[in-house]
Amino acid sequence: METVLVVGATGNIGTSAVTAALNSKRQVLAVVRNQKSGEKLLKNLGTSEGVTLVEADVVSDTGIRGVVEQVRAGKLPAFQHVFTCVGADYIPVALQDITTAQLRDNMSRGFESNFFAYRDTIGYLLEQGKPATYTICTGAQGDLGLFPLPAMTQGPLFSMAAAASRENAETNVRFNEIYLAMRVEVDEDAKQHGVTTASEFAAVYEAIMSRSEIRSSRVRVSTDADIKDLKYERKF
Ligand SMILES: NC(=O)c1ccc[n+]([C@@H]2O[C@H](COP(=O)([O-])OP(=O)(O)OC[C@H]3O[C@@H](n4cnc5c(N)ncnc54)[C@H](OP(=O)(O)O)[C@@H]3O)[C@@H](O)[C@H]2O)c1
Repeated sequence: METVLVVGATGNIGTSAVTAALNSKRQVLAVVRNQKSGEKLLKNLGTSEGVTLVEADVVSDTGIRGVVEQVRAGKLPAFQHVFTCVGADYIPVALQDITTAQLRDNMSRGFESNFFAYRDTIGYLLEQGKPATYTICTGAQGDLGLFPLPAMTQGPLFSMAAAASRENAETNVRFNEIYLAMRVEVDEDAKQHGVTTASEFAAVYEAIMSRSEIRSSRVRVSTDADIKDLKYERKF
């Protein structure tokens, strides 16, 4: 059985990615910051079956490397797919009011952690030489700029996704970016707020994993219809 490594697994999008993996009869290696976050994920999923939790500091430049070392040592399940969606603050602060500490913290969580995840897992996926996928979730805030802090973390993610799409155009790893332009939340919160549930959104990642023609692409999700009928185009 295949395994999906999910970085940012306990959030709205991460919970959706875990759901997609389980729906498609795959196991999950979920990176969590602590036991409490792990419990939140399992509660939102309503099951722990097929999910291995591993604690790591995703903000540190050695956190994910340590997870991969444990996989190589046979202490954690081998994985064939990676999904990353570590997120930072989703709050409206005007540019002139953003403190240096806030900026650095948001770039660290919103960008660097996702970069470290890519840098420190892609070699492992390439070495396997078998069909694999790497998927990252970015957001339309990066173009809209309505919430400057989360918007600015998306800019470098877009660039990283372009570079990774090029670098893996011909490899065994299908790299794709999900560009999300609608609100998705874990099911209980989504129902309260009238937005799309993590369970509904899971269909997007399920489709990306199963459709080998989708590679080096941006998959644009703006409406519920886009979840059922994927809109994607090559990054270059
Ligand atoms: N949700 C949406 O509708 C939406 C829309 C467009 C784009 N996106 C993209 O998806 C990303 C994730 O969004 P989301 O709604 O899933 O965010 P979220 O619910 O806030 O989840 C963020 C994830 O990052 C982890 N994280 C944050 N800071 C951390 C830290 N210092 N150490 C360890 N883990 C940390 C969280 O862990 P904990 O659970 O332990 O806090 C959680 O797993 C966004 O940044 C954006 O790029 C989301």
